Amino acid sequence: MTDKPRVWVSRPTFPDVIARLEPYFEVSVEETARKLSPPELAARLGGQAAVIVGLTDRIGAAEVEGAGRLRIVANLAVGYDNIDLGAMSVAGIAVSNTADVLNDSVADFTWAMLLGVARRLPEAERWLRAGQWRATEFKAWLGADVRGRTLGILGMGRIGQAIAHRAGGFGMSVIYHNRSPLPAADERACLARYVDKPQLLRESDFLVLALPLTAQTRHAIGAPELAVMKPTAMLINIARGGIVDEAALAAAVRERRLAGAALDVFEGEPQVRAELLALDNVLLSPHIASATTDTRRAMTSVAVDNVLAIFGHGPHAGHPPNILNPNVL
Ligand code: DGY
Repeated sequence: MTDKPRVWVSRPTFPDVIARLEPYFEVSVEETARKLSPPELAARLGGQAAVIVGLTDRIGAAEVEGAGRLRIVANLAVGYDNIDLGAMSVAGIAVSNTADVLNDSVADFTWAMLLGVARRLPEAERWLRAGQWRATEFKAWLGADVRGRTLGILGMGRIGQAIAHRAGGFGMSVIYHNRSPLPAADERACLARYVDKPQLLRESDFLVLALPLTAQTRHAIGAPELAVMKPTAMLINIARGGIVDEAALAAAVRERRLAGAALDVFEGEPQVRAELLALDNVLLSPHIASATTDTRRAMTSVAVDNVLAIFGHGPHAGHPPNILNPNVL
């Protein structure tokens, strides 16, 4: 034991990046990535000056009740629906996220999903690996073209805009809906047109969800929204599972009221509902849109920078760059 303030990291990340904390803090890192129960989490937070946590760590008033020394919760994600920001502010604890460093990786992955589901790639690969390729049939595995189609984006923050930027290369037109329209210059830069939500649902051939999960956005796509989408349309969710009513989505795809879906995020992660697993025209991935080596390193580095900065160290000493509740500083 030393008299340095303590930092706890809730999952293994990049040891050389975390090592930047070691001159100033006593650092402990959880050895395996597993979901801790609320009492386990509360016990871990006790006595810490800072914690670096991830999506599966749900932190609210009860978890920080016994954490009188805690000054910052640094979340290893841009989304922070796992953290009760209001409760942290009441407790005087700063919260940071990893905005910006993951925009390009997430946008690239969104396109991988869009193209994958449009061209039935996972389904075809499963079929080939199962040894079922006996003849090359001219009319087998017909997918949907993306060229000339309409890309719809619900949630036009920095990730939504990075997704839109890439659409030009595919000759698509882009429409979007957001709480408010982008400034005209940003709209022009991503060649996107603001529409209301009903029009977005009606006109999108590929509808990408890129909005944060909040009480207002939970089940933003449910049975009524799916009912107005084209039967040829496909839904891509790289945001949070809770934005989609998964039971309604599975029913729409199963009944061919929607042509397909690509989901990187799920309501009950890491559990995926059986109705979705049973559908061939649904591409499923285990919440990996930001998972490239460079991006995950950069995300770790941002979390470390914020912790260092709160305590007056590092490149942003005294000015933590990603604080979501600056009122506590
Ligand atoms: C985020 O940053 O919110 C992603 O979902 C995590 O990879």
